[in-house]
Amino acid sequence: MSIKVNCLNPIAACGLDLLDDKYEIVEDVNEAEAVLVRSASMHEMELSDHLAAVARAGAGVNNIPLEKCAEKGIVVFNTPGANANGVKELVVAAMILASRDIVGGIEWVKDNKEDGDIAKAAEKAKKAFAGTEISGKKLGIIGLGAIGVLVANAANRLGMEVYGCDPYLSVDNALNMSRDITLVKTYEEIYSECDFITVHVPLLDSTKGMFNKEAFDKMKDGVVFLNFSRDTLVNEPDMKAALESGKVRKYVVDFPNPTTAALPNTIVTPHLGASTQESEDNCAKMAVKQIREFMENGNIVNSVNYPTCDAGVCTTEGRIAVAHKNVHSMLSKFTNVFAKDGINIENMVNKSRGDFAYTIFDICSEATEAIVKDLEAIDGVIKVRIIK
Ligand code: MLT
Repeated sequence: MSIKVNCLNPIAACGLDLLDDKYEIVEDVNEAEAVLVRSASMHEMELSDHLAAVARAGAGVNNIPLEKCAEKGIVVFNTPGANANGVKELVVAAMILASRDIVGGIEWVKDNKEDGDIAKAAEKAKKAFAGTEISGKKLGIIGLGAIGVLVANAANRLGMEVYGCDPYLSVDNALNMSRDITLVKTYEEIYSECDFITVHVPLLDSTKGMFNKEAFDKMKDGVVFLNFSRDTLVNEPDMKAALESGKVRKYVVDFPNPTTAALPNTIVTPHLGASTQESEDNCAKMAVKQIREFMENGNIVNSVNYPTCDAGVCTTEGRIAVAHKNVHSMLSKFTNVFAKDGINIENMVNKSRGDFAYTIFDICSEATEAIVKDLEAIDGVIKVRIIK
């Protein structure tokens, strides 16, 4: 039987092409074992019992109820880094758009298109749109994930003095970063030093509204603030006051909403960060590969609600994957089930993340529905899948 996949948003064809004839794209999400999604909100959706995986073709996962999915044993994936170059390029463009009134200049040309003497008029008008260069200015980057690191390196090559801060900086990202970047320990150091500040942190309960009056008050007068992460990271009434007072000279934000669209001294783009052919292709391919790895081998790579768990390809007769609560004695209860039937566990990988855990068993005989039933009967087991 084929594995049913539903796309809640259009997904780039080069990604869907990676689904071979073991898979079938279905129109009805309630039939699907795996869902591919971009920005459709899943918060109000009923999650069917046979849904096993959701892959977001993108980095942010605020459109997906992660906890609710974890409680149902639905593993949620994202595609970190796949669209990072697209976002980086727009951040560079945003810094330049904020430095001279390029948008105003383009508007002026449109408004004066009937003027036969427009070339001469432009030479007089242009001083209204002049500005500064980004080279030599200080850029502070809050969040040095895949996007933050690319922005840091690009800005460094453009001659900016770059400062970065990330309490969770990974070894990989640190190694990918130019040695010219100054790492600082606190956001305050970025606030007090930098002419431009760009934010690249995920939207979580703990980060919502983190850029507020208290933060703006610590920033340099006339700072340019760039937000290509999520609108609600910024406290919008406080941002409005900071723009009106001149504390923030320009706000560039990639998320239009009724408030951002009406802010003064603000450039708003319509969530274009990852809207490039390359980013869409990369995200779709990565999302589909992760779904395949999970459906076919039971392995979890780049999940945002379950632990990474990789048992490679199964070389024994059977494999069973169990999503369960991270509570004591689960492993002994599992092994009792196999022992009862005289089944040898040849390999086992068990990983946990917060309240949830995931275990893969490679066994000496074919996995059966009877074993699944016994495992499902254990208190704390959420979902059991026969992989082989
Ligand atoms: C992301 O979260 O990856 C970006 O905001 C782009 C997108 O949402 O598609």
